[in-house]
Amino acid sequence: MAPLSLYGIPFCGKGICMKRKRVLSGIQPSGSLHIGNYFGMMKRMIKYQESDDLFTFLVNYHALTTVSDGEFLRQNTIEAAADYLALGLDPEKAVFWVQSDVPEVLEATWLLSNVTNMGLLERAHSYKDKVSKGMTPHHGLLSYPVLMAADILLFGGEVVPVGKDQKQHLEMTRDIALRFNATYGETFIIPEAHIEDDIGLIPGIDGQKMSKSYDNTIEIFCEKAELTTQIMSIITDNTPSDAPKDPETSTLYHIYVLFLDDAGRKELTQRFVNPGLKYSDVKRELIDIVWEYFEPFREKRASRFSNKDGVVEILKYGADKARAEASVFLARAKKNVGLNYDE
Ligand code: TRP
Repeated sequence: MAPLSLYGIPFCGKGICMKRKRVLSGIQPSGSLHIGNYFGMMKRMIKYQESDDLFTFLVNYHALTTVSDGEFLRQNTIEAAADYLALGLDPEKAVFWVQSDVPEVLEATWLLSNVTNMGLLERAHSYKDKVSKGMTPHHGLLSYPVLMAADILLFGGEVVPVGKDQKQHLEMTRDIALRFNATYGETFIIPEAHIEDDIGLIPGIDGQKMSKSYDNTIEIFCEKAELTTQIMSIITDNTPSDAPKDPETSTLYHIYVLFLDDAGRKELTQRFVNPGLKYSDVKRELIDIVWEYFEPFREKRASRFSNKDGVVEILKYGADKARAEASVFLARAKKNVGLNYDE
């Protein structure tokens, strides 16, 4: 049998020697999920739980760098958890928790801070962007990448799938880990970034990247009336219905194809390039397609995850497992830096 390759690492193909990788990802708890979150990230994370050792968590400590409304954060954290579970994340297959339930990550952040050069932090694009948009440059914002490095290193993350916007943060994590190991001895696993080029390229209803902060989302678990309003507002050009349309530049087309298989995509392309297509008809069709696509998830959301206590219980279960893992790396790190004075 030809050798196969997973993340560039060959495995023998007999089945038994295929090593599961620890895949790790933190997600901002920014409220109810939209189809950009789903097709951009969640759907593929949920796939990883089948083939790999998936660790995934809601980064509420990170959220504190930009959110100062406690009620908003509390609410958004539980909503995001319920949505993620309803979409198929399985707490038995993956380890799923809320970042602040494993406070060891803050202890690790401090240990890592001492091998993180100021120059490195000051060069971070995401920090510079936020400051250039008018945010006051506070310490949390500057040390955001150190907390992210702790997130990854403390759980032995080997593969971190992220969009292009997080590439630099991943490089910083590697840099910090290498420096820590070089200074104090082998402690952390050096993670590999897995840059998914198409992450984050899903357009919102105004044609810009779909994002809560642009207020251009199509939500997954909203009421049908709201879904209708969102889809009917997808931006279109003014090509008359009896003229051919260009699918490549059409936001409506790019959103619609997310829900189609290859044959369906070909058919939609044909409808666009041939005269006669009316955007409003396509939008009306799309409303039903989106509604039906998420129907099973909506039912699951309502029947199994609408109860807050149940969701909290799942999160605590995940936190216990995550904590057990973190304690191994943290103990090793504390020992290597010399905090184990009592041993
Ligand atoms: N910074 C990431 C984002 O904004 C979120 C994040 C925090 C993360 N910790 C992480 C992603 C660890 C991957 C691994 O999307």
